[in-house]
Parts: sequence; structure tokens; C-alpha cells
Amino acid sequence: MNAPLAAIRPDNLDFLRRHIYAGSGIVLETEKQYLLDARLSPIAREQGLGSLDDLCALLRATSESPLHRRVVEAMTTNETYFFREPAHYQALREVILPNLLQTRQTARKLSFWSAAASTGQEAYSLAMMLLEMGVQGWDAEILGTDLSSQVLERAQSGRYTQLEVNRGLPAALLLKYFRRVGLDWELKEEVRRMVRFQSFDLRSKMRAMGPFDVVFCRNILIYFDLATKKSILEEMQGTLFRGGHLLLGSTEAGAPLGDGYTRQAVGSITAYVAI
Ligand SMILES: C[S@@+](CC[C@H](N)C(=O)[O-])C[C@H]1O[C@@H](n2cnc3c(N)ncnc32)[C@H](O)[C@@H]1O
Repeated sequence: MNAPLAAIRPDNLDFLRRHIYAGSGIVLETEKQYLLDARLSPIAREQGLGSLDDLCALLRATSESPLHRRVVEAMTTNETYFFREPAHYQALREVILPNLLQTRQTARKLSFWSAAASTGQEAYSLAMMLLEMGVQGWDAEILGTDLSSQVLERAQSGRYTQLEVNRGLPAALLLKYFRRVGLDWELKEEVRRMVRFQSFDLRSKMRAMGPFDVVFCRNILIYFDLATKKSILEEMQGTLFRGGHLLLGSTEAGAPLGDGYTRQAVGSITAYVAI
């Protein structure tokens, strides 16, 4: 077993905090500092280094490099699972999507954005739900984006372990939309072709994105400071059709939405509607 790395020097701790913030917008809270050791020690060891201080020395010695990116990506939290926060999917199935299917009957075009897609379960859950609601023959597009190239690679593969498909995915959907590949499960082409993944930093201008009917921005704003949250939500408003819905994680209800949205109770959730 690897021995834990020694405690990090305060100036290096500060350097890492600034590096992570600059690369992702993520604010490393004091009580989350333990994550540095857990997530960066493997990278330090891989580089043949004995401590996080050595890793910082290497990072400080050069400017942008793949190692700089890896350190930022390693500090992202990628936790996700199929149909996470089921009340959101219930609101989609019972209210938001039936309304859209009706208003778009002629154009038969729908567009969605999973804005912090991680390994793809959010986007694919929606794709399966749309298929279950009979959108075959519609032009229904789901865009999944994330900062981390590692999670996007996994999302693109459409392949999940047994443990991952055991989290939130109803057995009937597993059997219908996946096939077994060795010990893993792979999504069928019918689902995969509805979803496109690309790299996108949420702090970027969003002029080229959308317009979307529904944007998922769940379990990501919590990592940002107030100014970052504000500017993301403002930019995001411009990516939605007027009347389009923004879904935030249930712990993100207090996000600074500004006056571009109205709150709407949909089933048991609150959605934010672009005005
Ligand atoms: C906790 S996951 C959320 C996954 C999914 N939305 C859910 O609720 O299950 C947060 C994701 O945000 C990504 N992320 C962090 N900073 C980002 C940024 N500045 N721009 C885009 N994505 C970012 C991380 O890489 C991570 O995969």
C-alpha cells in the first residue's frame, strides 16, 4: 500500500487553490482540502514524486502543460448516476415533455443540454425517457458537455459497469436499451445517436449554444463562487427558448438567478423558465 503523502506547505496549498480556480472555477473549501491528497497523490506518484510539494514545484516550473490540466480535472467531482433526482425526471415525463411534444408537433424538433454531463448518465437517462415517450421519428438532440476530457471519453463510450447500471436505472430499461459486453453494459445505437458530447467550460460565453428546450445544470453550481454562478446563469438564460426550462440540482435552489427566469412549480420540483 502507498504511504500517505506528507502535509502540504501553506504557499503550495494556496498555489493549488488558485490553479484549480483558474482552470475550472471550482473553489476548494477549507473543509475539502483533504481531497487534494486523495486526488493528487496518485498523479504525484505517477510522476515519480514523493509529495504534493514536489508536484507543485513541477507545476510552478512550467506554464500550461497536460499535467496542469490533469491536476485541474482530478479535482472535479464527477459523481452522477442514472435518473438522479427522480422528481426531475417525473416532472419531465408528466409535464414538461408532454407539453413540448404538443407544441412541437409540426416541427418535430427538440433540443436539450446536459451542461455538466460527467460520464453521461444524465443525458442518456433523458434519451431513454424520450424514446419511451415515442419520439422515434423526431429530431431530438441532446448535447452533453463537461470540462473534463476524462469523463467525456467515458460518456462517449456509452459503456457502464454493473455497479453503475445498478444505480438508478430500472431493470426494464437496462434490458431494453443496453447489451452486455464482457462484464460491462453498452448502450444501444438507438440511444447513443441521440446524444452528442463535447468539451465546454461553463465559464465561457454561450452565444454559440442552443437554443434549447430544457437545460440541465445540476450539481455543479455548488462548486463555484457567487460571481461565477451569476454569470453562468445569465449566459445560460440566453441559450434557452423563451419558455424553456432550466433544471438545477435540488441543493442549488438558492442560486442567483437574476431576472431572466421565473420560478415554476412543476409536479414536486421547482423549474426555472426563461422569460
Ligand atoms: C457532480 S458532476 C454533475 C453530474 C450531473 N449533472 C449530475 O447531476 O449527476 C459535476 C461535473 O461538472 C464538471 N465541471 C466542473 N467544473 C466545470 C466547468 N468549469 N465547466 C464545465 N463543467 C465543469 C465536472 O467535471 C463534473 O463532471
